[in-house]
Amino acid sequence: MSLEGKTALVTGASRGLGRAIARRLAQEGAAVGVNYSRSAREAEDLVEEIRKSGGRALPLCADVSVALQVSSMVERLEGELGPVDVLINNAGVMERGDLGDFDYSRMEGMYRVNVDGIVIPTRAVTQGMKQRRFGRIVNLTSIAAHGTAMAGTTFYAATKAAVSLLTRRFALELGPHGITVNAVAPGFILTDMVAAGRTPDEVESLVHATGGKAMVRRVGRPEDIAHAVAFLVSPECGFITAQILTVDGGRMDYIAHP
Ligand SMILES: NC(=O)c1ccc[n+]([C@@H]2O[C@H](COP(=O)([O-])OP(=O)(O)OC[C@H]3O[C@@H](n4cnc5c(N)ncnc54)[C@H](OP(=O)(O)O)[C@@H]3O)[C@@H](O)[C@H]2O)c1
Repeated sequence: MSLEGKTALVTGASRGLGRAIARRLAQEGAAVGVNYSRSAREAEDLVEEIRKSGGRALPLCADVSVALQVSSMVERLEGELGPVDVLINNAGVMERGDLGDFDYSRMEGMYRVNVDGIVIPTRAVTQGMKQRRFGRIVNLTSIAAHGTAMAGTTFYAATKAAVSLLTRRFALELGPHGITVNAVAPGFILTDMVAAGRTPDEVESLVHATGGKAMVRRVGRPEDIAHAVAFLVSPECGFITAQILTVDGGRMDYIAHP
């Protein structure tokens, strides 16, 4: 177990990718802070599951875009499970729409979670990481930031482009202190985020169509992303930083129009 003795904070770990990441880091031996904003039951269930299998975990309610809530969360996590060595900035939201139909009043809220929600937790943990001269940070960006043509993702993609850029700039700033900062750019992974607002039939045909565009001919599973994250945060991974690791089953279709 490569993360024995380390403490990790996973934001948005109650559901979807964050849940799979938190579970995987616990399997690797890390004590895990399971952050959520609304889904308390799901977060508590995951913590119980980790504890039952011999791991250490703590459910932590905090809105990642609110600095005071994040600093209290980090203080509590560090008090109970130890200083944060690994931060996974996973929490995110998607507001759908393109130039013609996007409800722009929703942009600020999406920006706050997807962008401020990365800056604030990073600021909250890096002072300690610098003092200990060790840190691993992974941000969840998206292939949308590479310029996919998937309808309804124009403004979401803009927030993820900011995440990709901030990843490289944070890596530049934190590298001299022994801290690596990378991002994982998932392709289509079946979670609540992509299913929301769609009927089961619509989801099924979207999964079929999108899976068909991947070279491996399937959509992704949350565990595919957790595996990439576990690699990037391993102590041995100290010479990989400022990278965006695309995990999309081989998608090149977004270079052309759909
Ligand atoms: N699924 C995909 O295909 C895909 C592709 C590319 C990138 N991504 C990115 O991967 C990340 C995870 O996506 P997902 O598909 O797992 O989404 P999801 O199923 O909708 O889960 C989102 C998670 O974020 C949490 N969250 C939302 N707002 C929060 C806030 N303000 N503070 C703290 N936690 C908050 C939610 O917790 P609560 O329920 O408690 O609010 C939930 O645990 C996101 O950054 C997303 O943009 C996903």
